[in-house]
Amino acid sequence: MLRHWKLEDAGSLYKYASDGRVSELALWPRHDSVEMSRMVIEKYFLTNPYNFAIVLRETGEPVGCIGLVPRGEEHFNAADNEREVGYWIGYPYWGRGLTTEALKALIPYCRDSLGLDSLLITTDNLNIASQRVAEKCGFQFIASYEHNGISSKAYRLTLK
Ligand SMILES: CC(C)(COP(=O)(O)OP(=O)(O)OC[C@H]1O[C@@H](n2cnc3c(N)ncnc32)[C@H](O)[C@@H]1OP(=O)(O)O)[C@@H](O)C(=O)NCCC(=O)NCCS
Repeated sequence: MLRHWKLEDAGSLYKYASDGRVSELALWPRHDSVEMSRMVIEKYFLTNPYNFAIVLRETGEPVGCIGLVPRGEEHFNAADNEREVGYWIGYPYWGRGLTTEALKALIPYCRDSLGLDSLLITTDNLNIASQRVAEKCGFQFIASYEHNGISSKAYRLTLK
């Protein structure tokens, strides 16, 4: 299930975002306290209307995040009417198809409700799992490039 983040999610966010295996590949600083997680929800998640918690239906717990990267903060030059998608999921939930399921739900929303022409995904060259998520959702490889010294790949999905 995708829904907006709430301040009360800070404990769950800290549980998964304090894991360096997630933060290093997601390219944001590892969370070092529940207060930091609360600040991230307040300052970054709640100010972005297109950022969603990935919530397990069975438990109601937010275990990951998916959303549109704010304009101007993309890792690769976005085309007109195109937005970059970013995502991560807590380590215990890797490899269960959950991020693919979340991205497959986000795509029609971006096409039908937001009227976007295309979506971008960028990944570290070594991040095979993220590249597989992109490919499984129909994205096509478009370029190799360097971002802050990291060899990276860009993928695009045309929506129209
Ligand atoms: C990338 C990430 C979001 C993937 O989430 P996920 O829910 O595990 O993804 P899925 O289960 O939907 O799909 C992962 C796919 O990658 C494959 N995979 C994972 N690691 C792999 C590896 N080392 N080599 C080959 N395939 C690999 C899985 O087998 C699966 O593909 P399959 O269904 O064809 O078998 C998750 O690993 C994560 O949060 N990583 C840290 C943060 C991050 O990298 N974010 C993206 C930044 S671009």
